[in-house]
Amino acid sequence: MNENHSDNQIGRARVQDSPELLAYYKELKTLGAGALWTVANDIEPWEPRSSSVPMLWKYDDLRELVLKSSELVTPEQAGRRVVYLVNDKRKDVSAAVGWLYTGIQVTRPGESTSAHRHKASALRFIMEGEGGYTVVDGNKITFEINDFVITPNSTWHEHGVVENGKTCIWQDGLDIPLINALEANDYAVYDGKQPLDFPVNYSPLAYGTAGIIPADHVWDKPYSPLFKFSWSKVYPALVEAQKVTKVNLVDGIIMQYSNPLTGGHVMQTMSASMQLLPAGFKGKAHKHTGSFVYQCAKGKGHSIINGQRFDWKERDIFCVPSWAWHEHHNGSETDDACLFSFNDLPVIEKLGLYQERELEENNGNQIIIKVFKL
Ligand SMILES: [Fe+2]
Ligand SMILES: [Fe+2]
Repeated sequence: MNENHSDNQIGRARVQDSPELLAYYKELKTLGAGALWTVANDIEPWEPRSSSVPMLWKYDDLRELVLKSSELVTPEQAGRRVVYLVNDKRKDVSAAVGWLYTGIQVTRPGESTSAHRHKASALRFIMEGEGGYTVVDGNKITFEINDFVITPNSTWHEHGVVENGKTCIWQDGLDIPLINALEANDYAVYDGKQPLDFPVNYSPLAYGTAGIIPADHVWDKPYSPLFKFSWSKVYPALVEAQKVTKVNLVDGIIMQYSNPLTGGHVMQTMSASMQLLPAGFKGKAHKHTGSFVYQCAKGKGHSIINGQRFDWKERDIFCVPSWAWHEHHNGSETDDACLFSFNDLPVIEKLGLYQERELEENNGNQIIIKVFKL
């Protein structure tokens, strides 16, 4: 069926102004009301519409400024020292894209933050450093570069770096804008440090090995009992999968971080994936609902988002707004490239809002109309 997207048809609002109507609108306005047909075509778009724009944040440009924050303010003053990344069109809600927030946090050796919790869920993707750890509801978890860590809705959490470690920098991802839009966020500060209720690394050691789970487990939480997904396991898993998997023309070899008890998303509102773009991979374009934030975990390449080319390399962060055409290309003919991403798909899927379209024209690739430069 061909869809007619003209507003000049029966079924769409197409009322012409007249002096009587203008007076009528004015009268409604005085009563806190309005005529639907004056706004209907705007609030009911033909297709999903995002107010976010595609953006790229180069780590080389940001790194020094992130480190500088650790000289300018203490963890006690700032709570968390984070440089947040804000979309040019979403400054009003502090979002990087759609209803997702992201930032880059720094913690120096010997430092630790106080514990707190909030209704917003959080995740981390480790960018550099040594000796970093997080404590999630009494579970102390150590992490390394390219590890993925979750701190779900309402879990107490605090972070730190051991005395003899190296300054740690990680990306935070939160659904703060979404939870604020739903007017459901809250925040609480823990009095003192959390007691460690489990042996260090209990969660990743009990749930994160070999695809097996404790047979006698007791877990009634709506999120994954596995709080850390190690790069040392994730990357080899992608490489192994590549040997036996037909490469997805759009996403290469893509794996979703999952709750080992359900196979579903790790948290109720946010999901995350790691994808491997084989050497020489030139992805086809598609678009879908859901907002995505990416970080290059390995290698280099570029993505074309709504006709704009964004060149990225390890640690660069970029975003793909809902319903934006996007395709990913590995910039190397000899090495693979890996992209970490997180998104709001659990919400989109639960609400029955997921839709996807593949680009048919031009053999599935966009025509580049602009190259992103700072
Ligand atoms: Fe937090
Ligand atoms: Fe996609």
